[in-house]
Amino acid sequence: MESLLEVEDLEVYYGAIHALHAVSIHVKAGEIVALVGANGAGKTSLMHAVMGQIPISGGRIRFDGAEISGQRTDVRVRRGLTLVPEGRRVFPRTDVEDNLLLGAWTRHSRAERTESLEEMYERFPRLRERRRQPAGTLSGGEQQMLSIARALMSKPNMLLLDEPSMGLAPAVVDRIFDIIEEVKRDGVTILLVEQNANRALQIADRGYCLEAGRIVMEGSASGLRDDCRVKEAYLGG
Ligand SMILES: Nc1ncnc2c1ncn2[C@@H]1O[C@H](COP(=O)(O)OP(=O)(O)OP(=O)(O)O)[C@@H](O)[C@H]1O
Ligand SMILES: [Mg+2]
Repeated sequence: MESLLEVEDLEVYYGAIHALHAVSIHVKAGEIVALVGANGAGKTSLMHAVMGQIPISGGRIRFDGAEISGQRTDVRVRRGLTLVPEGRRVFPRTDVEDNLLLGAWTRHSRAERTESLEEMYERFPRLRERRRQPAGTLSGGEQQMLSIARALMSKPNMLLLDEPSMGLAPAVVDRIFDIIEEVKRDGVTILLVEQNANRALQIADRGYCLEAGRIVMEGSASGLRDDCRVKEAYLGG
């Protein structure tokens, strides 16, 4: 099966800091792939590079059969690639509904936007209740759901999720992981960045470990879970 996303020998620098070293990963259509690694390993940099939000100094990114490395972010989003950013990044003074509609900028017809809004309110009833509230007044978990729902408003083929469980209470984390599995069942391919490696590998098909900007391990999710190096580094021994 051909990969939906293919990253090959990616190099990213911030000035003198070499953040990604020849990073290669692929994600097949329909998979959840987990990318785990410690603080500063380069997880967010990889996602930003895939979205075209930071420049790359080497390597290639292919999505859905086309080379996208040189394309602007908005073009990548139109092709079906969307990021749920680290820290949620909702617009705090804008109400919930307008935050959602901002995610639908790729959709031209009002009818399509209204239909997607209705789908999101069915999946996230809390967002319907809060639709006229400024997004900044939502709880952390509600903001994470809003951030995921906003990304889904563009009807992506592939979602990049950057630490969706960060800072949330255990019950909310459970809900977020359930949502990720539901989104997969709807046919959306997922690249999931998590420090909660154990949970991420439980729902993932495959995974990669990133260490100081390099992929140091890859394999089936269960294989990685059992790997002693992964255990020591990320799963608490
Ligand atoms: N804008 C920037 N300017 C300079 N250095 C940066 C910048 N963004 C990231 N870095 C550096 O690049 C490396 C990778 O950072 P990145 O944010 O990608 O890691 P991460 O794995 O997402 O970490 P975390 O788990 O803390 O989110 C780090 O050493 C970081 O300090
Ligand atoms: Mg990060």
